[in-house]
Amino acid sequence: MDAVELLMMDHSALRIISEHNEFTNMMEFRIFLMDIHVSIEEKVVFPELVSLGNRDTKKIVDSLIADHKLLDKLYSNLIKWKSAENPLYEARIPLFYQTLTFHNSQEEKLVFPLWKKLEPEKAKNDIKTALEIIGSSGIDIYMKETGISNDMIKYIEQ
Ligand SMILES: [Fe+2]
Ligand SMILES: [Fe+2]
Repeated sequence: MDAVELLMMDHSALRIISEHNEFTNMMEFRIFLMDIHVSIEEKVVFPELVSLGNRDTKKIVDSLIADHKLLDKLYSNLIKWKSAENPLYEARIPLFYQTLTFHNSQEEKLVFPLWKKLEPEKAKNDIKTALEIIGSSGIDIYMKETGISNDMIKYIEQ
């Protein structure tokens, strides 16, 4: 499995989580989404894609990074509204999930396909870096949020 396949597997989990329109644990979801998924995109995958692509790729990647900032802001607000028992919490959850799933679909459509052009040696290193990011942010949280098992992680590591 390569780093982009791993990210697309995250997207699958996120589509299912989005359908429920609620969070089981807001802090853990934040770690999965921002500290793991978004970090792998911004630190590992996007720089490779930009190096392969043209000016359009750079522009698209910049707008995807801007989406990440918006999602992070929106999510921080959800946490604040929830602890203050503000009705905006319930009211804005659908907007958060719609923004997130649209963003993920755009990544799959507009930039991830470029990954196939990457040299296999680079791709091998990148999945290792992605797994290091997961390990340092919290493998248990990652497994809980995605449904990925310990044996799957071991298989990907090989
Ligand atoms: Fe993203
Ligand atoms: Fe993504």
